Amino acid sequence: MFEKEIAEVVAAASAGALSAQEAESALEIPKESKMGDLALPCFKFARTLRKAPPAIAAELSAALELPDFVAKAETAGGYLNFFFDREAVARKLTEIDAWSGESTRCEREGEGKTVCIDYSSVNIAKPFHIGHLSTTVIGGALYRIFNYLGYNAVGINHLGDWGTQFGKLIVAVKKWSSLDEIAGKDEYFLNSLYVRYHKEAEEHPEYDDEARAWFKRIEDGDKEANEYFRVFKEITMRAVEKIYKRLKIRFDSYAGESFYNDKMEPCLDILRKKGLLTESDGAQVVRLDEWDMPPCLLVKADGATLYATRDIAAAYYRKQTYDFYKCLYVVAYQQNLHFKQLFKVLELMDFAGAKDMEHVAFGMVSLEDGAMSTRGGRVVWLAEVLDKAVEKALKIVEEKNPDLPDKEAIAESVGVGAVVFSALWNNRIKDIVFSFDKVLNFDGETAPYVQYTYARCASALRKGGAYDAKKADWSAISSEEAYDVVRCLLGFEDAVRTAARLREPCFVTRYAVDLAEKFNRFYIGHRIVVDDEGVLNARLLLTSCVAKTLHTAFSLLGIDAPETM
Ligand code: ARG
Repeated sequence: MFEKEIAEVVAAASAGALSAQEAESALEIPKESKMGDLALPCFKFARTLRKAPPAIAAELSAALELPDFVAKAETAGGYLNFFFDREAVARKLTEIDAWSGESTRCEREGEGKTVCIDYSSVNIAKPFHIGHLSTTVIGGALYRIFNYLGYNAVGINHLGDWGTQFGKLIVAVKKWSSLDEIAGKDEYFLNSLYVRYHKEAEEHPEYDDEARAWFKRIEDGDKEANEYFRVFKEITMRAVEKIYKRLKIRFDSYAGESFYNDKMEPCLDILRKKGLLTESDGAQVVRLDEWDMPPCLLVKADGATLYATRDIAAAYYRKQTYDFYKCLYVVAYQQNLHFKQLFKVLELMDFAGAKDMEHVAFGMVSLEDGAMSTRGGRVVWLAEVLDKAVEKALKIVEEKNPDLPDKEAIAESVGVGAVVFSALWNNRIKDIVFSFDKVLNFDGETAPYVQYTYARCASALRKGGAYDAKKADWSAISSEEAYDVVRCLLGFEDAVRTAARLREPCFVTRYAVDLAEKFNRFYIGHRIVVDDEGVLNARLLLTSCVAKTLHTAFSLLGIDAPETM
């Protein structure tokens, strides 16, 4: 906060030797508040100014004209430290308070820019497993964060709705069930047929020929085959939509792999014309030896196209349809090679968006008992994880506050919120070991902890009634604890913008916990609802700003903010 203003006075003090921009990018927020609110490390200018850092700090300090929100500036070695006037800073809260949740509180840096975000991208005919949790909630958070900053975010669910597995499933349904039966069943039933198929096909290799033939019939537009396919898709989407609703996830497009059936040929044409396609055992590939990568396989010997072929067509389609500024793929790091190959092939094709493609990779999720969602391990369904978290949350809520009305609804908010929050807590790339007890700990770095803090603010605001910022006695929120809260509040924009820039929602998650911790420290040491009018108004204002900011952080992360808990 105030970086711009400070940078300008520094530039003026340097008499043109430093630009405001140079000064601004050098400014740091000191770790300890006794070092001030902002620090200028002058060694960064030693080379350009040809002076020792302490001398630079001293000279700048002597020439500074301090704005009124700065109480003093002091040199410490090669540093020039700025100490703000706490009351002047606290007055900034009126700006936060005036802002309503609807509009952004941040600079709309993304105006006019479209960001495509490919996330969740589930596979048809498979239940939603925990391996798709991260892509869904990280993608969903980025979608909201970008929109919040004024970008036009386009959420794309690149459904896995193509491939021989659908032929296998048709064979399984025909052998052990029927179209009528499965229409009334759920995705778990479909999955059990699929599992049975794999078991029995080991002894009956001829099933695979039948499956291939059925898939070919889907491809050729055969009516019966496509009716099966349509039912598979319907069953899966019904289940997936339920989960999206719980996770507050939405998409602007569900154009999945099958959508690109008729859009690959023009791309293959470009590849041919540019001499990029080579034959290899009857298949068509793009060789990438020069970049130390295996060839990218695009057409099999039998003429079938692949995942990568569809992604090339999708990239062209997205560029043409959305004219994106960036195209992000929120996909597990297991697909690193796929995306490296894809982006390289697009570059070789002179694709207009090639330099704007980004793989936003993330790590694996496993449960404490070692279960995870790889092919070998036991599969963990996401709906089960959510249900179990909600069930445990309900027990905790019942213990803590047995008279609470709407316990079920609150347990749903807390349980689902806890799961989402934990998937957004670390840097994306870290593998996560999921523990119910840890994510539901009310005293941890968790959703329930922050939700509880929010409910605490809401309760104080209900008790305190309406407040008037004009009557605030600013000295009532200038203690160390209160000032920490104020400073943290002013750091909100920075957290959101960093999250967008690094494609790391964890900056918002961690910000929320930080703000909650600071507020709680203040809350323990200070009464909010007191008789003194000036104190009351100042503290209610502070509490209201915390509540509004936490509420916004939650909405960016996709978590509910219950008013009571
Ligand atoms: N369906 C794929 C999977 O579950 C993810 C698709 C990611 N998006 C893409 N455009 N390749 O692994």
